[in-house]
Amino acid sequence: MPTTVDAPKRVFPEVAEIPADVRMDFYGAADRYLVGGEVRLWSGPRQRVLSPVCVAGSGGCGGPFELGEYPLMTAEAALEVLDAACRAYGQGCGRWPTMSVADRIHHLESFIPRMQAVREEVVCLLMWEIGKSRADSCKEFDRTVDYIRDTIEALKELDRNSSRFAVEQGFVAQIRRSPLGVVLCMGPQNYPLNETFTTLIPALIMGNTVIFKPPKYGVLLHAPLLEAFASSFPPGVVNTVYGDGPTVVGPLIESGRVDVLAFIGSAKVASLLKHQHPRPNRLRCVLGLDAKNAAVVLPDADLDLAVSECVLGALSFNGQRCTAIKIIFVHRSLADEFAQRFARKVEQLKVGMPWDDGVHITPLAEQGRPEWFKGLVDEAVAAGAKVINRGGGTIDQTLFYPAVVYPADLKTRICQIEQFGPVTPIVPYDDEREVIDWVVASPFGQQAALFGNDPQRLSRLIDPLVNQVSRVNINSQCQRGPDKFPFVGRKDSAEGTLSVSDALRVFSIRSLVAAKSTEPNQRIVSGIVSGRCSKFLSTDFIF
Ligand code: G3H
Repeated sequence: MPTTVDAPKRVFPEVAEIPADVRMDFYGAADRYLVGGEVRLWSGPRQRVLSPVCVAGSGGCGGPFELGEYPLMTAEAALEVLDAACRAYGQGCGRWPTMSVADRIHHLESFIPRMQAVREEVVCLLMWEIGKSRADSCKEFDRTVDYIRDTIEALKELDRNSSRFAVEQGFVAQIRRSPLGVVLCMGPQNYPLNETFTTLIPALIMGNTVIFKPPKYGVLLHAPLLEAFASSFPPGVVNTVYGDGPTVVGPLIESGRVDVLAFIGSAKVASLLKHQHPRPNRLRCVLGLDAKNAAVVLPDADLDLAVSECVLGALSFNGQRCTAIKIIFVHRSLADEFAQRFARKVEQLKVGMPWDDGVHITPLAEQGRPEWFKGLVDEAVAAGAKVINRGGGTIDQTLFYPAVVYPADLKTRICQIEQFGPVTPIVPYDDEREVIDWVVASPFGQQAALFGNDPQRLSRLIDPLVNQVSRVNINSQCQRGPDKFPFVGRKDSAEGTLSVSDALRVFSIRSLVAAKSTEPNQRIVSGIVSGRCSKFLSTDFIF
């Protein structure tokens, strides 16, 4: 029963109003975890999962729907999982890290149809578990499958380039990329599938063994994939841990046996985890962290375009994207006009359940968030701003109707911290220098979006901003894609670069076999290659 922000009626459905194809009973299949190639039933304590979607019987509005349970594993169980991953890696001598690239690719290729077979189940769980719209849930799934295919192609390309010998200063060498060890992958709750897989898949294919821990919200949707992993990869190559972070992740890192931490989440947690490792220099980190991306609307901007891109950028998936536009600076000459148009457009956004056609604003998974957003809005209003859209800031159980806050004061929290949700501060500015100073002072450095037409004026911002953030978007919202572009950040926003091809590099290290180019050595190397004695020293070409 969708409605619009200016008419907050009953939004949450009764059971009978839920479309049959997404109707959900208690999801009982998530009481398992994957260890050493075995999908094992967890018999210990479990965590109850509440959907952000509230469902009532006829007449009333009930509370969050009880969706299922997942294992609350103990430290001992997590360490057993770590043992399995370490055994499979075998200090680099295991079957998986020494397997040929072509064979590893075959394993990953066999995973794709198995993954696709559970698409509907995963998409449905994405909707119920984190409140992501059906369209975005499908997009998340399909984009992930594309990412796997693109990763395979990128690895083939990388391998083709490494299948030749380098000859330099009397030496002959073959240079390839080798795995790093055991990788712990932890994805975020806003992209629990995609952003877990954008580290897990490249880590795997480069010969590492992996333990993945789903985020706090977005756990059940991994359950349908466990069998697919178990049947596609050798035992211990992919493993899962579930449960409370400090209980299960702390001991994994403190053991010193995790070689790479791939974590997408908050800078605070990342820093805590890094410091738990007893040999920090041995721990490699691939991190995607907080961001406070600014949009800057210049005096000559195309207002229609700027408004629609900023609404999309600020409020897609309720603003719960690390790449979301989280503050909008507008030149004072058009600030009032921009703010009013922006507010009217926000009022048109459809509020409803994830499966409603064209829905834009959906229930929030994280408990207590609506009240926290209200606190941010109240503080901004106390400092002189107004909520300028009808219904903005209204709370209905797990729903928070987007609030457009104008004119926002840079001293208030909404202009300083990452809100990660549907509250948008609009700040008028007079001089571009004010914007640059704000970006320079920000602890974050992911992206910015500039709206304008004058090449000179745009360049005056592009040149300083590229040294502050890692992507400057012109006349479009901030975003991660296309996935072949580097996804990276400065300051407290990221460590390491992800993209289809960069990820292959961050989860591997170059190794080479070199010999003085003497005649006997040439004979030996040729013998190894022609006899196909080594998987590393080889000129085999993957088509
Ligand atoms: O939450 C951060 C994601 O990487 C954003 O990706 O820009 O494609 O939504 P996106």
